[in-house]
Amino acid sequence: MRLIQFLAGAVGLLANVCKAAPSVSVVSNTQLDPEGIFFVSYDGVVNVNSFQLSAVLTYKNYQFAAWYTSTGTAILGRRKLPSGSWSTLQLPHNLSTMDSHNAINLGVSPEDGKIHVALDCHSTSLFYTISEANLATSGNSWVASRFAAITSTLGTLNIGTEITYPQFVITPQNLLQFVFRTGISGDGATQLAEYSAGGWNNVGSWASATGTYTAPDGAVSTLRNLYIHGFTYHGERAYVSGTWREQNAAVSCSPEGLTNHDTIYIYSDDLGRTWFNNASAQVGTSGTSPINVNTAGIIVDSLDADHGLMNQESQTVDSTGLIHIIISYVPGRFTQCVENYETVRPEFARPFHLYQNPNGTFTKVEIPFFIQAVGRSQILMDSEDNVYVILPYVRVVTASKATGWTDWTMVYNGTATALDAFGEVTLDRARVPTGVASVLYQQNSTGTTPSAVKLIDFTLNG
Ligand SMILES: *[C@@H]1O[C@H](CO)[C@@H](O)[C@H](O)[C@H]1NC(C)=O
Ligand SMILES: *[C@@H]1O[C@H](CO)[C@@H](O)[C@H](O)[C@H]1NC(C)=O
Ligand SMILES: *[C@@H]1O[C@H](CO)[C@@H](O)[C@H](O)[C@H]1NC(C)=O
Ligand SMILES: *[C@@H]1O[C@H](CO)[C@@H](O)[C@H](O)[C@H]1NC(C)=O
Ligand SMILES: *[C@@H]1O[C@H](CO)[C@@H](O)[C@H](O)[C@H]1NC(C)=O
Repeated sequence: MRLIQFLAGAVGLLANVCKAAPSVSVVSNTQLDPEGIFFVSYDGVVNVNSFQLSAVLTYKNYQFAAWYTSTGTAILGRRKLPSGSWSTLQLPHNLSTMDSHNAINLGVSPEDGKIHVALDCHSTSLFYTISEANLATSGNSWVASRFAAITSTLGTLNIGTEITYPQFVITPQNLLQFVFRTGISGDGATQLAEYSAGGWNNVGSWASATGTYTAPDGAVSTLRNLYIHGFTYHGERAYVSGTWREQNAAVSCSPEGLTNHDTIYIYSDDLGRTWFNNASAQVGTSGTSPINVNTAGIIVDSLDADHGLMNQESQTVDSTGLIHIIISYVPGRFTQCVENYETVRPEFARPFHLYQNPNGTFTKVEIPFFIQAVGRSQILMDSEDNVYVILPYVRVVTASKATGWTDWTMVYNGTATALDAFGEVTLDRARVPTGVASVLYQQNSTGTTPSAVKLIDFTLNG
C-alpha cells in the first residue's frame, strides 16, 4: 500500500516536473545610462512606457535602444548581438516638456536598412529623423551625422500637429508601417502610414472618435479614442486589440475613475486597408470608413467604465495565429466602483489573460497576482506557445501551453532581487523569437533625481 502510494506520488511529482510552468534565467543586466531623466507624469516615466512598442529593437545582428539623459538629450544606443558592448550617439534634440507621453520610438525599413526615430510628442507635432541607408546592418560608425535633420513631417508626408503614440511596425512582407493617434485623449483617431520606395504614404484612419456610447447608468458619451494593446503581424494578418476611452467622464461611476471600457478585436489581411471582426465580417476600411464604438461584433470582452480598465497594455499572437491579450482592471469582488484609479489599481488591479480559442471564442483567465501599480504588463510567448507576463517591477509570471495556460507561477521576482524598477517596462518584441526577452527598465527615484536606465536579458524556458 505504502509502496503504491509512494509510486503514485513519484509519478505525480514527475508529471508536475514535466508540466512545470516555464522558467526564465537572467543572462545579463546592463546599465545603459547611470543618469536617465526621471520624473513621474501621468503615472509614468518617459523612458519606459508600454505603448512605445520599440524603445529597444532588435534588427538582424544588432540591437538598438533609445532614452533621454538627465538633461533630456535623446540618445540612441547600438550593440552587436548577443552581447556586444553598447555604443551611443546623441541626436540633436532634447525632450521639450516633462511629459511621460513624449517617449522615443524606433523602427527599421527593411527595403533600405534605414533606422527611423519618432519622438517627443503629445497631441503636438512629432519629431522625426531617418538614417543613411543600411545603418541598421552595416556596423558603420555610430554617429549622429548619419541621421538626417529632424523634421516634423515623415519625409514629405505631413501628418499634422496633433500626434501621440508614434509606433513603428515591421511587417512580415518587409514593409515599415507607422501607427499613431491624431487628436487628443477622448477625441482621437487611430491612423496608419506606410514607408515604401523610400517615402511615406498615408493609409488613413481606421478607428474614429465618432459614435455614441451609453453607460449602464444611462450617461451618454459622443466622442472617444481607441487605445490599442498592439498592432501585431503574424503571416499576412495584422491583429489589433484595444479599449475605448470616452470623453464624457459621466460614463464612469466616479470622476477619478477611468472612462476606458470593453476590449475589442479586429484584424486585417491586406496590410491594414480593410478590417474584419471576430466573426469574419468586414467592419472597416482605412481612410474612408474607419471602425467606431458602434461597429458590430468587435467587442470580445465587455466591461463598463467602473473598473479601472487600463489602456495600451499588450498583446501577442501564438504560433497557430490566435491572439493573446493582457488586460488589467479591478475585479468586481473588490469593488463595483473604482473611485480613484491611481489609488485603487495599485491595491486591487489584476491582470487577465484574454485569448482566442481555435473555434473563435475568447477565454479570459484572471492571473493570480496583483499588478501592484497603476501601470501595465507585457505579454510574450516562446516558440512552444508558453505565456510569459512581465508585471510591473520586472516580476515575470508564466503559464504553460501544456496546462492550457492555467499553472501561473512567478518565476522571477524583480522586487525580491532588488532591481528597484519603476513599475512599467518595455520589451524588445523583435528579439523574442530568438528565445531571449530583453526588458528595458528604469530604476525608481524621487522627484526629478535622475536614475539608471537598464536592460535585463532573460532566456526563455532554458
Ligand atoms: C540639449 O541639452 C544639452 C544639455 O543641456 C545642451 O548642451 C544641448 O545644446 C541641447 N541640445 C539642443 C539641440 O537643444
Ligand atoms: C467569436 O467568433 C466565434 C466564431 O464565430 C464565436 O463563436 C464567438 O462567440 C465570438 N466571440 C466573441 C467574443 O465575439
Ligand atoms: C470553443 O472552445 C472553447 C475552448 O476549448 C470551449 O470552452 C467552448 O465550449 C467552445 N465553444 C463552442 C461554441 O464550440
Ligand atoms: C516578491 O518579492 C517580494 C519582496 O521580497 C515579496 O514581498 C513578495 O511576496 C514576492 N512575491 C512572490 C509572489 O513571491
Ligand atoms: C519609488 O520611490 C518613491 C519615492 O521614494 C516611493 O514613494 C515609492 O514607493 C517607490 N516605489 C517602489 C515600487 O518602490
